[in-house]
Amino acid sequence: MRAVDIIIKKRDKQELTAEEIEFFVRGFTSGDIPDYQASAFAMAVLLNGMTPFETADLTLAMARSGQVLDLSNIVDIAVDKHSSGGVGDKTSIAVMPMVAACGLPVGKMSGRGLGFSGGTLDKLESIPGYRCDLTTDEFKKQLKEKGIVLTGQSLDLAPADGKMYALRDVTGTVTSMPLIASSIMSKKIAAGAQAIVLDVKTGLGAFMQTLEEARELADLMVDIGRLAGRKTVALLSDMNQPLGAAVGNALEVIEAIDALRGGGPADFREHCLHVAAHVLLLGQRAKDLDEARVMAEKSIDDGSALEKLRVLVAAQGGDASYVDDVSKFGRAKYTEEVKAPRSGFISQVHARSVGEAAVALGAGRAKKGDPVDHAVGFIIHKKVGDEVREGEPLFEVHANDQAKLAKAREAVSSAFRFSDESVPPLPLFYG
Ligand code: URA
Repeated sequence: MRAVDIIIKKRDKQELTAEEIEFFVRGFTSGDIPDYQASAFAMAVLLNGMTPFETADLTLAMARSGQVLDLSNIVDIAVDKHSSGGVGDKTSIAVMPMVAACGLPVGKMSGRGLGFSGGTLDKLESIPGYRCDLTTDEFKKQLKEKGIVLTGQSLDLAPADGKMYALRDVTGTVTSMPLIASSIMSKKIAAGAQAIVLDVKTGLGAFMQTLEEARELADLMVDIGRLAGRKTVALLSDMNQPLGAAVGNALEVIEAIDALRGGGPADFREHCLHVAAHVLLLGQRAKDLDEARVMAEKSIDDGSALEKLRVLVAAQGGDASYVDDVSKFGRAKYTEEVKAPRSGFISQVHARSVGEAAVALGAGRAKKGDPVDHAVGFIIHKKVGDEVREGEPLFEVHANDQAKLAKAREAVSSAFRFSDESVPPLPLFYG
């Protein structure tokens, strides 16, 4: 078999066999197949798609490209949660401590920013010392002792996805249903999750722009999960506008901390409570969703979720005093408040434009391995449905460069649309 023939076959819209997919994934993992062939393969998949069988084969091959963890001797049920990616999505940073505080141990491997969407690891690294490179043994030890882990993909778990993820980010091959489904599910399967809650985003700032596509992605991932013997649930959530108010690494961590203190934007709090309730239910800690939600609320009210975040940060080498004093987070040199140019109702805050503007400010990467600027980003003060008066604060730009600030101001200003008529707020979930 030759990698080039497999690329040509996919380019010519033919279905690949399980053996061909396994060969390609193995070769790419070992380094025998170079990045340029993997990039061409990813582009062929993006353009021509994959059948559900090919996607399942790709997922299992990527999951088996490294170690597959068995956590059954560490926790009674290994649960995991994963978002398909969006703008301002700092959900894991709040939900994982909430769930762990309710007595359900959670160990999660997150990703870095991908295209215009932010990544939990980049966000958490705004806390000095926070390590995202735990080994598998460290992962297991921390899960057992602290009941919470939020780290990066260790090199021995689904390494094929780790390599492919970094390539996709910079080769325009992110928005492919089979590549997203296999990327997410291979990580979850390799990390030993027995129960998985998927937060599948839909809308202008999601990789799946329509509800139909998002539903298709959700169904595909649920099917793959079941095929691999994992209990899998998918929620369909809105990503037409950024989630919450903060977009940008440190700004988002601060907002997640606020939410764990009982504050923060109402939409973000509600989103987190709903996701946490599903994780608790699937993890068999509650008899129904209502009970699970009450547990999640209590973890915020009694401070136990915030305490779990401190435990997490300290366990991974971070400075936990940042959790109690958010003024310690590095701030950008320039902050500018942008005012509403007119009165009316907000009818759109284009999430993707905001995400792209954040990347341009330095919050994301232009090429593999680029450093990210943790301090830059936006605070969005007005969301869809809000009434605004001319001259009221619309959003804030946090930048480390004047020229970039000016461009970001322009880009985010054009992300807003206004209406003279009242506009209903966007739903948080579609199903
Ligand atoms: N999250 C992932 O882990 N992979 C993707 O491809 C998209 C979102």
